[in-house]
Amino acid sequence: MSTNKKFYITTPIYYPSGRLQLGNTYTTVLADSLARFHRLKGESVYFLTGSDEHGLKIERKAEENNQKPIEYLDEQIANFKKLWKLMDISYDQFIRTTDPEHEKKVQHIFSKLQEQGDIYKGEYVGWYSVSDEEYFTESQLAEVYRDESGKVIGGKAPSGHEVELVKEETYFFKMSKYADWLLKYYQDHPNFIQPASRMNEMINNFIKPGLEDLAVTRTKVDWGVKVPGDPKHVIYVWIDALSNYITALGYDPDQKQQPELFEKFWPANLHLVGKEIVRFHTIYWPIMLHALNLPLPDEILGHGWLIMKNGKMSKSKGNVIYPETLIDRYGLDAVRYYLLKMMPYGNDGVFTPEDFVTRLNSDLANDLGNLLSRTVSMINLYNDGVIPKLSNLNKEDVSIEELSVQIYKDYDEAMSTANLGDALDAVWTFIRRTNKYIDETQPWVKAKDSSLKNELNDVLAHLAASLRFIGTLLQPIMTETPKKIFEQLGLDQISLIKDLNFLDLPENSKVVERPTSIFPRIKAKEEVEFVSKLVSKSTKGKGRAHMEELKKEEQKSIQYDDFSKVKMVVAEIKEAEFLPNSEKLIKFILDDGHNHHRQILSGIRKWYPEPEKLIGKKVIIVANLAARKMAGSQSEGMILAGENGDGNVVLTLMPDVLEPGAEIS
Ligand code: ME8
Ligand code: MG
Repeated sequence: MSTNKKFYITTPIYYPSGRLQLGNTYTTVLADSLARFHRLKGESVYFLTGSDEHGLKIERKAEENNQKPIEYLDEQIANFKKLWKLMDISYDQFIRTTDPEHEKKVQHIFSKLQEQGDIYKGEYVGWYSVSDEEYFTESQLAEVYRDESGKVIGGKAPSGHEVELVKEETYFFKMSKYADWLLKYYQDHPNFIQPASRMNEMINNFIKPGLEDLAVTRTKVDWGVKVPGDPKHVIYVWIDALSNYITALGYDPDQKQQPELFEKFWPANLHLVGKEIVRFHTIYWPIMLHALNLPLPDEILGHGWLIMKNGKMSKSKGNVIYPETLIDRYGLDAVRYYLLKMMPYGNDGVFTPEDFVTRLNSDLANDLGNLLSRTVSMINLYNDGVIPKLSNLNKEDVSIEELSVQIYKDYDEAMSTANLGDALDAVWTFIRRTNKYIDETQPWVKAKDSSLKNELNDVLAHLAASLRFIGTLLQPIMTETPKKIFEQLGLDQISLIKDLNFLDLPENSKVVERPTSIFPRIKAKEEVEFVSKLVSKSTKGKGRAHMEELKKEEQKSIQYDDFSKVKMVVAEIKEAEFLPNSEKLIKFILDDGHNHHRQILSGIRKWYPEPEKLIGKKVIIVANLAARKMAGSQSEGMILAGENGDGNVVLTLMPDVLEPGAEIS
């Protein structure tokens, strides 16, 4: 049986304006798992991703790096592709908006819309944010600056970026003309936008208040596709970018006949986008398609953001976490699993190091990893490593077989609606049930009674069948673990889900002799600290925080002159007590040889609960550090301390023979 169904899924094309962080990768990992699911169903899948390479932001980024835009972009795209490879992203095509083919088609699309009268020339005045590449009306600004007369002279976009007043001759797209059509389309296709609540948001916030014509060209930008016949205008990002979903398939309005790829896959089944770009995909894009006389995609799914405790991940907040380091330490499947598990359908999900570590230990190591190693060990121990025939001798068997049918239904429905959280819940319900089945059937008890050998074997067979079932359902989510599960069981991996039937367990396969743990338990405290540090370290990277770069940074040498600027001397602790009103600080009075009453505050209270015991000890202080206020008190310098691998802080205590004032060099 092969299905004729096709599944065309897209991610947004990403801005190559910097390194991708963990949150960015969510869209693509989700898309990948859905593509894999539909392949497992035997459908003909086309999975498109790519990069959105035009516009002022890129122009400026390249300038900052002293590169031509395309040089800068080629490097960025190479990094994107490397990351997608590392994350096992199974895309069928990676489109770049700088592909000459795409650029040509965008020009043809523009001309067609212009000839039809959907695009016309006018003048635009508005508040423009370079960083957002977006115009704002005065009322949309998050903050406005005024002169004495009250006139608005500047302000900030909702993103917090500065805006400037820009006036330019611009081409407009007659969006207003299509507002009623779009509302009707929404009504007739209630599932077009998911989650459904986002549809009301679009209607109430953008369409009902009056859909304005959209400025679709810029003269301020050079790096982009030129308007045919009017090259001082550059086609603005959204027409250029959104078109990628059709140009990638070869669509060109100037062709009489569209290519097979386009005929086969358009309209898309699913555009997956983050919530901040839902508006572009559910208002402007449908109108563009309609104006081109093309059918609309089945569904636009707007997912939420991966956020940190202090808000959305962003370099300026310094709460960025990068996927590579996590993958390096915990493996790809742990990271893919966590991303898909922690994001609730259509909503934001909060990343915390504690939750990450807990999931790895409880869901992966305990529930799944243990089930596999227990199963393989018992098959070795009780049946010479051979998977027995599946029969129906234990009263617990029926419940697990029946559950598998229900779980498959739940899983299939959840995956078909892109609800990964529910799909994973279903799989884990089954994993936990199987673990419980072991406790209920007590194979180790049966093993002591040779008259129960058949019952014992039946249990072993059910465990193997369960893992075969679980390993198959996990294939869209994890890319390495299912292989390992099948390898350890000595079974062939199932690549089409129609071939999966719980009861079809091949007989007489041999499991591996020594099961290796697929998800070793990790030390919670240490790993929480490790992950927490990753997050805070990224603040020091000034926007380019790369682990490699960080390491280089740490190894970078300084000149003697730099070092000699720091004046370090021995000082004797005269007084030491907790600073009132502070949970962290100890207040020290020190004798540094010159000043017998130097006050220094140090954040080491946690490690020195009895500070008075430090009186009389000698430490090293930085004597020429500018004084500063901490928790309302003055601190004149800094006491040196070292940090252990376990996060403990220890003062650098000096031998008695060094007198206060002795210089350290
Ligand atoms: O928007 N959590 O590109 P982009 C979850 N070029 N998803 C996040 C995220 C987070 N913290 N941060 C970013 C663009 N994303 C346009 C698209 S499509 C025709 C043009 C997601 O690089 C974001 O929501 O800013 C989007 O889906 C994707 O990363 C790329 O964002
Ligand atoms: Mg964005």
